[in-house]
Amino acid sequence: MLTKYAASLLSPYFNVEAGDLLAKLEVPPQKEMGDLSLPCFAFAKALRLAPQKIAEQVADRINADQPDIRALATGGYLNIFFQASRWKTDIVVAALEEGYGHSEIGVGKRVVIDMSSPNIAKPLGIGHLRSTMIGNALVNLYRATGHEVINVNHLGDWGTQFGKLIVAYGKWGSRETLEREPIKESLRLYVKFHEEMDLDPSLEDEAREAFAKLERGDSETYGLWQYFVDESMKEFRRVYERLGVSFDHFTGESFYNDKIDAVVRELRELSLLEESDGARIVRLEENGLPPCLILKKDGSTIYPVRDIATAIYRKHSLGADSILYVVGAEQSLHFQQVFAVLGKMGHDWSEQCKHVPFGLMNVNGKKMSTRKGKVVFLEDVLDEAVQRALQIIDEKNPELQDKEKIAETVGVGAVIFGDLKHRRQLSVDFNLEEVVSFDGETGPYLQYTCARIHTLLKKGKYEALQNRHSADGSHLQSESAWECLKTLSRYEAVLREAATDNEPYIVARFLLDAAQDFNRFYNSGKIVFEGANPAEVLSKLSLAAAVANVLKSGLGMLGIKAPQEM
Ligand code: ARG
Repeated sequence: MLTKYAASLLSPYFNVEAGDLLAKLEVPPQKEMGDLSLPCFAFAKALRLAPQKIAEQVADRINADQPDIRALATGGYLNIFFQASRWKTDIVVAALEEGYGHSEIGVGKRVVIDMSSPNIAKPLGIGHLRSTMIGNALVNLYRATGHEVINVNHLGDWGTQFGKLIVAYGKWGSRETLEREPIKESLRLYVKFHEEMDLDPSLEDEAREAFAKLERGDSETYGLWQYFVDESMKEFRRVYERLGVSFDHFTGESFYNDKIDAVVRELRELSLLEESDGARIVRLEENGLPPCLILKKDGSTIYPVRDIATAIYRKHSLGADSILYVVGAEQSLHFQQVFAVLGKMGHDWSEQCKHVPFGLMNVNGKKMSTRKGKVVFLEDVLDEAVQRALQIIDEKNPELQDKEKIAETVGVGAVIFGDLKHRRQLSVDFNLEEVVSFDGETGPYLQYTCARIHTLLKKGKYEALQNRHSADGSHLQSESAWECLKTLSRYEAVLREAATDNEPYIVARFLLDAAQDFNRFYNSGKIVFEGANPAEVLSKLSLAAAVANVLKSGLGMLGIKAPQEM
Protein backbone atom coordinates (compact mmCIF):
# COMPACT_ATOMS: atom_id res chain seq x y z
CA MET A 1 0.00 0.00 0.00
CA LEU A 2 2.89 2.37 0.57
CA THR A 3 3.90 1.71 -3.01
CA LYS A 4 0.53 2.89 -4.26
CA TYR A 5 0.77 5.94 -2.12
CA ALA A 6 4.26 6.65 -3.43
CA ALA A 7 3.10 6.25 -7.01
CA SER A 8 0.28 8.75 -6.63
CA LEU A 9 2.48 11.13 -4.75
CA LEU A 10 5.26 11.00 -7.34
CA SER A 11 3.11 11.06 -10.43
CA PRO A 12 2.69 14.86 -10.69
CA TYR A 13 6.46 15.32 -10.45
CA PHE A 14 6.98 13.13 -13.48
CA ASN A 15 3.83 14.00 -15.33
CA VAL A 16 2.80 10.36 -15.72
CA GLU A 17 -0.17 8.34 -14.53
CA ALA A 18 0.21 6.85 -11.05
CA GLY A 19 -0.64 3.43 -12.51
CA ASP A 20 2.36 3.59 -14.84
CA LEU A 21 4.68 4.59 -12.04
CA LEU A 22 3.45 1.75 -9.86
CA ALA A 23 4.98 -0.79 -12.19
CA LYS A 24 8.29 1.08 -12.26
CA LEU A 25 8.83 1.37 -8.52
CA GLU A 26 11.32 -1.15 -7.20
CA VAL A 27 12.19 -2.44 -3.76
CA PRO A 28 15.92 -1.75 -3.39
CA PRO A 29 18.15 -4.71 -2.50
CA GLN A 30 19.33 -3.03 0.70
CA LYS A 31 17.26 -1.23 3.29
CA GLU A 32 19.77 1.62 3.53
CA MET A 33 18.96 2.49 -0.07
CA GLY A 34 15.40 3.32 0.80
CA ASP A 35 11.99 1.75 1.10
CA LEU A 36 11.34 2.15 -2.59
CA SER A 37 13.27 3.38 -5.52
CA LEU A 38 12.34 4.74 -8.91
CA PRO A 39 14.84 4.36 -11.76
CA CYS A 40 14.82 7.64 -13.68
CA PHE A 41 16.49 6.37 -16.84
CA ALA A 42 13.26 5.99 -18.78
CA PHE A 43 12.40 9.68 -18.30
CA ALA A 44 15.70 11.02 -19.59
CA LYS A 45 14.61 11.33 -23.18
CA ALA A 46 11.27 13.02 -22.60
CA LEU A 47 12.67 15.44 -20.05
CA ARG A 48 15.97 15.94 -21.89
CA LEU A 49 17.94 15.61 -18.70
CA ALA A 50 20.40 13.08 -17.33
CA PRO A 51 18.70 10.50 -15.04
CA GLN A 52 20.68 11.62 -12.01
CA LYS A 53 19.74 15.25 -12.63
CA ILE A 54 16.07 14.28 -12.82
CA ALA A 55 16.33 12.35 -9.58
CA GLU A 56 18.08 15.27 -7.85
CA GLN A 57 15.57 17.86 -8.96
CA VAL A 58 12.59 15.77 -7.95
CA ALA A 59 14.21 14.87 -4.63
CA ASP A 60 14.71 18.56 -3.79
CA ARG A 61 11.11 19.40 -4.53
CA ILE A 62 9.78 16.41 -2.61
CA ASN A 63 11.86 17.18 0.43
CA ALA A 64 10.60 20.75 0.36
CA ASP A 65 6.91 19.99 0.13
CA GLN A 66 6.16 16.43 1.28
CA PRO A 67 6.35 15.73 5.01
CA ASP A 68 5.51 12.02 4.68
CA ILE A 69 8.47 10.96 2.59
CA ARG A 70 12.10 11.80 2.25
CA ALA A 71 13.86 11.44 -1.08
CA LEU A 72 17.46 10.90 -2.03
CA ALA A 73 18.99 10.78 -5.50
CA THR A 74 21.73 8.25 -6.21
CA GLY A 75 23.04 6.96 -9.51
CA GLY A 76 19.97 7.90 -11.49
CA TYR A 77 17.58 6.44 -8.96
CA LEU A 78 15.14 8.35 -6.82
CA ASN A 79 15.19 6.59 -3.46
CA ILE A 80 12.21 7.06 -1.20
CA PHE A 81 12.10 6.74 2.58
CA PHE A 82 8.70 6.73 4.20
CA GLN A 83 8.34 8.75 7.35
CA ALA A 84 6.56 6.77 9.99
CA SER A 85 4.25 9.32 11.56
CA ARG A 86 1.31 9.13 9.24
CA TRP A 87 1.26 5.55 8.15
CA LYS A 88 1.40 3.37 11.18
CA THR A 89 -2.29 3.14 11.90
CA ASP A 90 -3.24 2.81 8.23
CA ILE A 91 -0.91 -0.14 7.77
CA VAL A 92 -2.06 -1.97 10.89
CA VAL A 93 -5.72 -1.50 10.00
CA ALA A 94 -5.19 -2.68 6.42
CA ALA A 95 -3.03 -5.65 7.36
CA LEU A 96 -5.64 -6.91 9.79
CA GLU A 97 -8.21 -7.21 7.00
CA GLU A 98 -9.05 -10.52 5.49
CA GLY A 99 -7.87 -10.57 1.89
CA TYR A 100 -5.18 -8.00 2.60
CA GLY A 101 -2.65 -7.98 -0.22
CA HIS A 102 -5.04 -9.23 -2.89
CA SER A 103 -5.30 -7.20 -6.06
CA GLU A 104 -7.20 -7.20 -9.31
CA ILE A 105 -4.55 -6.96 -11.98
CA GLY A 106 -5.73 -10.23 -13.48
CA VAL A 107 -9.46 -9.62 -13.60
CA GLY A 108 -10.96 -10.92 -16.82
CA LYS A 109 -8.01 -13.20 -17.61
CA ARG A 110 -8.29 -16.96 -17.55
CA VAL A 111 -5.09 -18.88 -16.91
CA VAL A 112 -4.71 -22.62 -17.32
CA ILE A 113 -1.95 -24.04 -15.13
CA ASP A 114 -0.54 -27.44 -16.05
CA MET A 115 1.03 -28.85 -12.89
CA SER A 116 2.14 -31.98 -11.05
CA SER A 117 1.34 -34.28 -13.97
CA PRO A 118 2.98 -37.48 -12.73
CA ASN A 119 3.23 -40.61 -14.79
CA ILE A 120 0.78 -43.38 -14.08
CA ALA A 121 2.26 -46.57 -12.67
CA LYS A 122 5.32 -44.70 -11.54
CA PRO A 123 5.85 -43.22 -8.12
CA LEU A 124 5.17 -39.65 -7.32
CA GLY A 125 8.79 -38.75 -6.80
CA ILE A 126 10.26 -35.83 -5.04
CA GLY A 127 10.70 -34.19 -8.45
CA HIS A 128 6.95 -34.05 -8.87
CA LEU A 129 6.75 -32.30 -5.53
CA ARG A 130 8.31 -29.27 -7.15
CA SER A 131 5.82 -29.14 -9.98
CA THR A 132 2.95 -29.74 -7.58
CA MET A 133 3.94 -27.16 -5.01
CA ILE A 134 5.24 -24.47 -7.37
CA GLY A 135 2.09 -25.00 -9.42
CA ASN A 136 -0.14 -24.84 -6.37
CA ALA A 137 1.48 -21.62 -5.20
CA LEU A 138 0.98 -20.12 -8.66
CA VAL A 139 -2.68 -21.12 -8.60
CA ASN A 140 -3.08 -19.26 -5.29
CA LEU A 141 -1.06 -16.27 -6.43
CA TYR A 142 -2.95 -15.91 -9.69
CA ARG A 143 -6.25 -16.13 -7.85
CA ALA A 144 -5.09 -13.56 -5.30
CA THR A 145 -4.29 -11.19 -8.14
CA GLY A 146 -7.75 -11.54 -9.62
CA HIS A 147 -7.13 -14.09 -12.37
CA GLU A 148 -9.49 -16.91 -13.06
CA VAL A 149 -7.49 -20.11 -12.78
CA ILE A 150 -8.08 -23.62 -14.05
CA ASN A 151 -5.43 -26.04 -12.87
CA VAL A 152 -4.96 -29.24 -14.75
CA ASN A 153 -3.15 -32.43 -13.93
CA HIS A 154 -1.81 -33.65 -17.26
CA LEU A 155 -1.28 -37.20 -16.11
CA GLY A 156 1.23 -39.23 -18.07
CA ASP A 157 -1.28 -41.96 -18.76
CA TRP A 158 -0.42 -42.85 -22.33
CA GLY A 159 2.66 -43.93 -24.23
CA THR A 160 4.91 -46.84 -25.05
CA GLN A 161 5.72 -47.44 -21.39
CA PHE A 162 2.22 -48.88 -21.02
CA GLY A 163 3.12 -51.47 -23.64
CA LYS A 164 6.04 -52.47 -21.44
CA LEU A 165 3.94 -52.59 -18.32
CA ILE A 166 1.25 -54.68 -19.95
CA VAL A 167 3.80 -57.17 -21.24
CA ALA A 168 5.57 -57.33 -17.86
CA TYR A 169 2.32 -57.76 -15.99
CA GLY A 170 1.36 -60.64 -18.30
CA LYS A 171 4.67 -62.38 -17.63
CA TRP A 172 5.53 -61.60 -14.02
CA GLY A 173 2.62 -59.83 -12.35
CA SER A 174 -0.57 -60.66 -10.47
CA ARG A 175 -3.64 -58.75 -9.35
CA GLU A 176 -2.98 -59.58 -5.77
CA THR A 177 0.47 -58.00 -5.60
CA LEU A 178 -0.61 -55.08 -7.73
CA GLU A 179 -3.51 -54.16 -5.51
CA ARG A 180 -1.47 -54.40 -2.37
CA GLU A 181 1.05 -51.80 -3.48
CA PRO A 182 0.07 -50.62 -6.93
CA ILE A 183 2.89 -48.21 -7.62
CA LYS A 184 5.70 -50.15 -6.00
CA GLU A 185 4.57 -53.22 -7.90
CA SER A 186 4.27 -51.34 -11.20
CA LEU A 187 7.73 -50.01 -10.60
CA ARG A 188 9.05 -53.49 -9.89
CA LEU A 189 7.50 -54.73 -13.15
CA TYR A 190 8.92 -51.80 -15.05
CA VAL A 191 12.42 -52.36 -13.69
CA LYS A 192 12.16 -56.10 -14.31
CA PHE A 193 11.12 -55.42 -17.88
CA HIS A 194 14.22 -53.36 -18.50
CA GLU A 195 16.49 -55.96 -16.93
CA GLU A 196 14.98 -58.73 -19.03
CA MET A 197 15.04 -56.60 -22.14
CA ASP A 198 18.81 -56.33 -21.83
CA LEU A 199 18.93 -60.12 -22.17
CA ASP A 200 16.14 -60.47 -24.72
CA PRO A 201 15.75 -57.43 -26.97
CA SER A 202 12.67 -58.92 -28.67
CA LEU A 203 10.71 -57.89 -25.58
CA GLU A 204 10.81 -54.38 -26.88
CA ASP A 205 8.89 -55.36 -30.01
CA GLU A 206 6.37 -57.16 -27.86
CA ALA A 207 5.86 -54.02 -25.83
CA ARG A 208 5.51 -51.92 -28.96
CA GLU A 209 2.88 -54.33 -30.25
CA ALA A 210 1.02 -54.18 -26.94
CA PHE A 211 0.96 -50.40 -27.05
CA ALA A 212 -0.22 -50.44 -30.67
CA LYS A 213 -3.07 -52.68 -29.54
CA LEU A 214 -3.90 -50.21 -26.82
CA GLU A 215 -3.95 -47.37 -29.33
CA ARG A 216 -6.30 -49.37 -31.55
CA GLY A 217 -8.63 -49.70 -28.57
CA ASP A 218 -8.33 -53.47 -28.05
CA SER A 219 -10.74 -54.07 -25.19
CA GLU A 220 -8.67 -56.43 -23.05
CA THR A 221 -5.54 -54.30 -23.22
CA TYR A 222 -7.62 -51.21 -22.63
CA GLY A 223 -9.22 -52.74 -19.53
CA LEU A 224 -5.83 -53.57 -18.12
CA TRP A 225 -4.60 -50.05 -18.79
CA GLN A 226 -7.65 -48.58 -17.07
CA TYR A 227 -6.95 -50.79 -14.09
CA PHE A 228 -3.38 -49.50 -13.80
CA VAL A 229 -4.65 -45.93 -14.05
CA ASP A 230 -7.28 -46.40 -11.35
CA GLU A 231 -4.87 -48.03 -8.93
CA SER A 232 -2.24 -45.34 -9.42
CA MET A 233 -4.78 -42.60 -8.97
CA LYS A 234 -5.70 -43.90 -5.54
CA GLU A 235 -2.14 -43.40 -4.40
CA PHE A 236 -1.78 -40.01 -6.04
CA ARG A 237 -4.97 -38.73 -4.47
CA ARG A 238 -3.76 -39.75 -1.05
CA VAL A 239 -0.58 -37.72 -1.44
CA TYR A 240 -2.43 -34.72 -2.90
CA GLU A 241 -4.69 -34.75 0.09
CA ARG A 242 -1.75 -34.64 2.45
CA LEU A 243 -0.26 -31.79 0.49
CA GLY A 244 -3.60 -29.97 0.46
CA VAL A 245 -3.58 -29.69 -3.32
CA SER A 246 -6.63 -30.04 -5.53
CA PHE A 247 -7.19 -29.98 -9.28
CA ASP A 248 -9.97 -28.63 -11.45
CA HIS A 249 -9.24 -31.26 -14.10
CA PHE A 250 -7.48 -34.60 -14.16
CA THR A 251 -7.17 -34.77 -17.91
CA GLY A 252 -4.17 -36.87 -18.75
CA GLU A 253 -2.53 -37.49 -22.09
CA SER A 254 -5.07 -40.17 -23.01
CA PHE A 255 -7.86 -37.60 -22.86
CA TYR A 256 -6.52 -36.18 -26.12
CA ASN A 257 -6.42 -39.46 -28.05
CA ASP A 258 -9.43 -38.56 -30.17
CA LYS A 259 -8.13 -35.05 -30.77
CA ILE A 260 -4.84 -35.99 -32.38
CA ASP A 261 -5.96 -37.05 -35.85
CA ALA A 262 -7.28 -33.56 -36.47
CA VAL A 263 -3.89 -32.09 -35.56
CA VAL A 264 -2.04 -34.49 -37.85
CA ARG A 265 -4.49 -33.73 -40.65
CA GLU A 266 -4.06 -30.02 -40.22
CA LEU A 267 -0.28 -30.31 -40.20
CA ARG A 268 -0.51 -32.29 -43.43
CA GLU A 269 -2.87 -29.79 -45.07
CA LEU A 270 -0.55 -26.98 -44.13
CA SER A 271 2.30 -28.99 -45.71
CA LEU A 272 4.20 -28.88 -42.47
CA LEU A 273 4.47 -32.64 -42.08
CA GLU A 274 7.49 -34.35 -43.60
CA GLU A 275 8.67 -37.89 -43.77
CA SER A 276 11.96 -38.80 -42.22
CA ASP A 277 13.09 -42.43 -41.93
CA GLY A 278 9.48 -43.50 -42.00
CA ALA A 279 8.51 -41.20 -39.15
CA ARG A 280 6.61 -37.89 -39.50
CA ILE A 281 8.23 -34.70 -38.36
CA VAL A 282 7.81 -30.93 -38.52
CA ARG A 283 10.99 -29.08 -39.37
CA LEU A 284 11.80 -26.12 -37.16
CA GLU A 285 15.06 -24.86 -38.64
CA GLU A 286 13.73 -21.31 -38.89
CA ASN A 287 13.16 -21.40 -35.18
CA GLY A 288 16.68 -22.67 -34.61
CA LEU A 289 15.32 -25.92 -33.19
CA PRO A 290 15.69 -29.59 -34.09
CA PRO A 291 12.68 -31.12 -35.87
CA CYS A 292 9.66 -32.04 -33.80
CA LEU A 293 8.73 -35.71 -34.03
CA ILE A 294 4.98 -36.09 -34.60
CA LEU A 295 4.36 -39.74 -35.44
CA LYS A 296 6.68 -42.67 -34.98
CA LYS A 297 7.56 -45.11 -37.74
CA ASP A 298 4.77 -47.44 -36.68
CA GLY A 299 2.32 -44.56 -36.67
CA SER A 300 2.01 -44.38 -32.91
CA THR A 301 1.61 -40.97 -31.34
CA ILE A 302 4.08 -39.48 -28.97
CA TYR A 303 4.40 -36.84 -26.30
CA PRO A 304 4.83 -33.71 -28.47
CA VAL A 305 1.77 -34.19 -30.67
CA ARG A 306 -0.31 -34.92 -27.62
CA ASP A 307 0.85 -31.61 -26.14
CA ILE A 308 -0.04 -29.80 -29.36
CA ALA A 309 -3.59 -31.21 -29.23
CA THR A 310 -3.72 -30.38 -25.52
CA ALA A 311 -2.80 -26.73 -26.03
CA ILE A 312 -5.42 -26.32 -28.75
CA TYR A 313 -8.04 -27.85 -26.50
CA ARG A 314 -7.10 -25.58 -23.62
CA LYS A 315 -7.30 -22.53 -25.81
CA HIS A 316 -10.55 -23.34 -27.57
CA SER A 317 -12.50 -25.50 -25.15
CA LEU A 318 -11.29 -24.13 -21.84
CA GLY A 319 -11.04 -20.55 -23.12
CA ALA A 320 -7.53 -20.01 -21.81
CA ASP A 321 -6.01 -16.58 -22.26
CA SER A 322 -2.68 -18.00 -21.23
CA ILE A 323 -1.30 -21.43 -20.40
CA LEU A 324 1.47 -22.13 -17.93
CA TYR A 325 3.39 -25.41 -17.89
CA VAL A 326 5.05 -26.02 -14.55
CA VAL A 327 7.51 -28.67 -15.67
CA GLY A 328 11.19 -29.39 -15.00
CA ALA A 329 13.82 -27.49 -16.96
CA GLU A 330 14.91 -30.71 -18.67
CA GLN A 331 11.80 -30.43 -20.84
CA SER A 332 12.64 -26.97 -22.17
CA LEU A 333 13.35 -28.17 -25.67
CA HIS A 334 10.11 -30.12 -25.78
CA PHE A 335 8.05 -27.02 -24.97
CA GLN A 336 10.00 -24.81 -27.34
CA GLN A 337 9.21 -27.28 -30.09
CA VAL A 338 5.54 -27.61 -29.17
CA PHE A 339 5.06 -23.83 -29.05
CA ALA A 340 6.98 -23.40 -32.31
CA VAL A 341 4.82 -25.96 -34.13
CA LEU A 342 1.69 -24.23 -32.82
CA GLY A 343 3.06 -20.94 -34.11
CA LYS A 344 3.70 -22.44 -37.53
CA MET A 345 0.14 -23.69 -37.62
CA GLY A 346 -0.94 -20.06 -37.31
CA HIS A 347 -1.94 -20.18 -33.67
CA ASP A 348 -0.75 -16.73 -32.66
CA TRP A 349 -1.89 -17.38 -29.14
CA SER A 350 1.03 -19.80 -28.73
CA GLU A 351 2.83 -16.65 -27.55
CA GLN A 352 0.69 -16.91 -24.44
CA CYS A 353 1.93 -20.44 -23.70
CA LYS A 354 4.72 -20.38 -21.20
CA HIS A 355 6.99 -23.06 -19.84
CA VAL A 356 7.69 -22.36 -16.15
CA PRO A 357 10.77 -24.49 -15.60
CA PHE A 358 12.43 -25.52 -12.36
CA GLY A 359 15.68 -27.22 -11.40
CA LEU A 360 16.35 -30.71 -10.08
CA MET A 361 15.90 -31.69 -6.48
CA ASN A 362 17.98 -34.10 -4.43
CA VAL A 363 16.92 -35.44 -1.08
CA ASN A 364 19.79 -35.94 1.31
CA GLY A 365 22.00 -36.40 -1.72
CA LYS A 366 19.88 -39.03 -3.48
CA LYS A 367 18.76 -38.45 -7.04
CA MET A 368 15.92 -40.26 -8.66
CA SER A 369 15.91 -42.51 -11.68
CA THR A 370 12.89 -44.65 -12.40
CA ARG A 371 14.52 -47.10 -14.75
CA LYS A 372 16.90 -48.41 -12.16
CA GLY A 373 14.21 -48.34 -9.52
CA LYS A 374 16.24 -46.11 -7.27
CA VAL A 375 13.55 -43.71 -6.36
CA VAL A 376 12.99 -41.34 -3.54
CA PHE A 377 9.29 -41.64 -2.84
CA LEU A 378 7.63 -38.40 -1.97
CA GLU A 379 5.47 -40.09 0.62
CA ASP A 380 8.53 -41.49 2.41
CA VAL A 381 10.03 -38.02 2.51
CA LEU A 382 6.82 -36.62 3.98
CA ASP A 383 6.68 -39.41 6.55
CA GLU A 384 10.22 -38.84 7.63
CA ALA A 385 9.70 -35.09 7.89
CA VAL A 386 6.60 -35.63 10.02
CA GLN A 387 8.52 -38.03 12.28
CA ARG A 388 11.23 -35.47 12.80
CA ALA A 389 8.70 -32.74 13.49
CA LEU A 390 7.08 -34.95 16.09
CA GLN A 391 10.41 -35.51 17.79
CA ILE A 392 11.06 -31.78 18.02
CA ILE A 393 7.57 -31.10 19.35
CA ASP A 394 8.04 -33.86 21.93
CA GLU A 395 11.13 -32.08 23.16
CA LYS A 396 9.87 -28.53 23.02
CA ASN A 397 6.27 -28.87 24.02
CA PRO A 398 5.53 -32.34 25.41
CA GLU A 399 2.15 -31.26 26.83
CA LEU A 400 0.76 -30.20 23.45
CA GLN A 401 -2.61 -31.67 22.48
CA ASP A 402 -3.11 -33.27 19.06
CA LYS A 403 0.62 -33.69 18.63
CA GLU A 404 0.35 -36.07 15.69
CA LYS A 405 -1.91 -33.77 13.76
CA ILE A 406 0.29 -30.78 14.36
CA ALA A 407 3.42 -32.75 13.47
CA GLU A 408 1.78 -33.61 10.15
CA THR A 409 1.13 -29.93 9.43
CA VAL A 410 4.64 -28.98 10.47
CA GLY A 411 6.42 -31.81 8.66
CA VAL A 412 4.55 -31.39 5.41
CA GLY A 413 4.85 -27.62 5.64
CA ALA A 414 8.58 -27.97 6.20
CA VAL A 415 9.03 -29.98 3.03
CA ILE A 416 6.95 -27.53 0.99
CA PHE A 417 8.80 -24.50 2.32
CA GLY A 418 12.15 -26.24 1.87
CA ASP A 419 11.31 -26.39 -1.80
CA LEU A 420 9.69 -22.99 -2.34
CA LYS A 421 12.29 -20.95 -0.53
CA HIS A 422 14.60 -21.40 -3.49
CA ARG A 423 14.30 -19.60 -6.78
CA ARG A 424 12.63 -22.21 -8.88
CA GLN A 425 15.31 -22.43 -11.56
CA LEU A 426 17.99 -23.42 -9.08
CA SER A 427 18.51 -27.04 -8.23
CA VAL A 428 17.73 -27.84 -4.66
CA ASP A 429 19.75 -29.97 -2.28
CA PHE A 430 17.23 -31.03 0.21
CA ASN A 431 18.37 -31.90 3.69
CA LEU A 432 15.53 -33.12 5.86
CA GLU A 433 17.13 -32.25 9.15
CA GLU A 434 17.65 -28.69 7.98
CA VAL A 435 14.21 -28.09 6.53
CA VAL A 436 12.38 -29.42 9.58
CA SER A 437 14.43 -27.40 12.05
CA PHE A 438 12.47 -24.79 14.01
CA ASP A 439 15.29 -22.28 13.68
CA GLY A 440 16.79 -20.78 10.59
CA GLU A 441 15.02 -20.03 7.36
CA THR A 442 12.47 -22.81 7.48
CA GLY A 443 8.75 -23.43 7.30
CA PRO A 444 8.54 -24.48 10.96
CA TYR A 445 10.26 -21.22 11.95
CA LEU A 446 7.45 -19.31 10.24
CA GLN A 447 4.77 -21.52 11.72
CA TYR A 448 6.38 -21.18 15.11
CA THR A 449 6.35 -17.40 14.81
CA CYS A 450 2.61 -17.56 14.09
CA ALA A 451 2.01 -19.84 17.05
CA ARG A 452 4.01 -17.55 19.29
CA ILE A 453 1.91 -14.60 18.24
CA HIS A 454 -1.22 -16.55 19.10
CA THR A 455 0.11 -17.23 22.56
CA LEU A 456 0.98 -13.58 22.97
CA LEU A 457 -2.49 -12.46 21.86
CA LYS A 458 -4.08 -14.89 24.25
CA LYS A 459 -1.96 -13.70 27.10
CA GLY A 460 -2.80 -10.07 26.33
CA LYS A 461 -6.51 -10.88 25.90
CA TYR A 462 -6.38 -9.27 22.51
CA GLU A 463 -9.74 -10.63 21.38
CA ALA A 464 -11.51 -8.89 24.23
CA LEU A 465 -9.57 -5.66 23.91
CA GLN A 466 -9.62 -5.19 20.23
CA ASN A 467 -12.09 -3.27 18.22
CA ARG A 468 -11.40 -3.76 14.54
CA HIS A 469 -11.98 -0.17 13.60
CA SER A 470 -10.02 1.36 16.35
CA ALA A 471 -6.71 -0.40 15.77
CA ASP A 472 -4.25 2.30 16.54
CA GLY A 473 -0.62 2.28 15.55
CA SER A 474 0.36 5.58 17.03
CA HIS A 475 1.91 3.95 20.09
CA LEU A 476 4.35 2.01 18.01
CA GLN A 477 7.39 4.13 18.63
CA SER A 478 10.31 1.82 18.09
CA GLU A 479 12.39 1.51 14.98
CA SER A 480 11.79 -2.25 14.98
CA ALA A 481 8.01 -1.71 14.92
CA TRP A 482 8.34 0.64 11.97
CA GLU A 483 10.51 -1.84 10.06
CA CYS A 484 7.88 -4.45 10.69
CA LEU A 485 5.09 -2.18 9.44
CA LYS A 486 6.96 -1.27 6.30
CA THR A 487 7.48 -4.92 5.53
CA LEU A 488 3.78 -5.62 5.99
CA SER A 489 2.96 -2.77 3.67
CA ARG A 490 4.85 -4.52 0.86
CA TYR A 491 2.64 -7.57 0.85
CA GLU A 492 0.39 -6.66 -2.07
CA ALA A 493 3.36 -5.79 -4.26
CA VAL A 494 5.02 -9.04 -3.26
CA LEU A 495 2.04 -11.13 -4.34
CA ARG A 496 1.81 -9.24 -7.59
CA GLU A 497 5.48 -9.62 -8.36
CA ALA A 498 5.48 -13.31 -7.47
CA ALA A 499 2.55 -13.90 -9.83
CA THR A 500 4.08 -11.84 -12.62
CA ASP A 501 7.42 -13.63 -12.38
CA ASN A 502 5.87 -17.03 -11.61
CA GLU A 503 8.18 -17.14 -8.62
CA PRO A 504 6.76 -18.34 -5.26
CA TYR A 505 10.23 -17.78 -3.85
CA ILE A 506 9.42 -14.06 -3.67
CA VAL A 507 6.63 -14.81 -1.18
CA ALA A 508 8.83 -17.21 0.79
CA ARG A 509 11.56 -14.59 1.07
CA PHE A 510 9.05 -11.96 2.14
CA LEU A 511 7.65 -14.22 4.87
CA LEU A 512 11.11 -14.76 6.29
CA ASP A 513 11.68 -11.00 6.31
CA ALA A 514 8.34 -10.41 7.99
CA ALA A 515 8.97 -13.06 10.65
CA GLN A 516 12.50 -11.83 11.29
CA ASP A 517 11.29 -8.23 11.58
CA PHE A 518 8.58 -9.30 13.94
CA ASN A 519 10.89 -11.35 16.13
CA ARG A 520 13.24 -8.41 16.38
CA PHE A 521 10.34 -6.25 17.55
CA TYR A 522 9.09 -8.96 19.89
CA ASN A 523 12.49 -9.55 21.46
CA SER A 524 13.15 -5.85 21.99
CA GLY A 525 10.96 -5.60 25.06
CA LYS A 526 8.11 -7.13 26.99
CA ILE A 527 4.70 -6.29 25.59
CA VAL A 528 2.22 -7.55 28.16
CA PHE A 529 3.18 -6.90 31.77
CA GLU A 530 1.79 -5.48 35.02
CA GLY A 531 1.46 -1.75 34.84
CA ALA A 532 1.88 -1.44 31.07
CA ASN A 533 0.01 1.36 29.37
CA PRO A 534 -3.15 -0.33 27.98
CA ALA A 535 -3.24 1.79 24.83
CA GLU A 536 0.35 0.89 24.11
CA VAL A 537 -0.29 -2.80 24.74
CA LEU A 538 -3.22 -2.74 22.38
CA SER A 539 -1.18 -1.01 19.72
CA LYS A 540 1.55 -3.62 19.94
CA LEU A 541 -0.87 -6.52 20.03
CA SER A 542 -2.57 -5.12 16.95
CA LEU A 543 0.74 -5.12 15.16
CA ALA A 544 1.36 -8.70 16.26
CA ALA A 545 -2.10 -9.72 15.05
CA ALA A 546 -1.47 -8.01 11.73
CA VAL A 547 1.81 -9.89 11.33
CA ALA A 548 0.07 -13.17 12.12
CA ASN A 549 -2.61 -12.38 9.56
CA VAL A 550 -0.07 -11.71 6.85
CA LEU A 551 2.12 -14.70 7.75
CA LYS A 552 -0.89 -16.98 7.67
CA SER A 553 -2.06 -15.59 4.36
CA GLY A 554 1.40 -15.83 2.82
CA LEU A 555 1.96 -19.35 4.07
CA GLY A 556 -1.44 -20.17 2.62
CA MET A 557 -0.27 -18.85 -0.77
CA LEU A 558 2.53 -21.41 -0.61
CA GLY A 559 0.12 -24.14 0.44
CA ILE A 560 1.29 -24.29 4.06
CA LYS A 561 -1.00 -24.28 7.07
CA ALA A 562 -0.26 -22.35 10.24
CA PRO A 563 -1.21 -24.18 13.44
CA GLN A 564 -2.25 -22.02 16.40
CA GLU A 565 -0.01 -23.96 18.71
CA MET A 566 3.05 -26.10 18.23
N1 ARG B 1 4.23 -36.45 -17.25
C1 ARG B 1 5.35 -35.62 -17.52
C2 ARG B 1 6.52 -36.02 -16.64
O1 ARG B 1 6.34 -36.50 -15.55
C3 ARG B 1 5.05 -34.17 -17.30
C4 ARG B 1 3.93 -33.59 -18.12
C5 ARG B 1 3.95 -32.10 -18.15
N2 ARG B 1 2.89 -31.50 -18.87
C6 ARG B 1 2.76 -31.46 -20.18
N3 ARG B 1 1.71 -30.87 -20.70
N4 ARG B 1 3.66 -31.99 -20.97
O2 ARG B 1 7.65 -35.83 -17.05
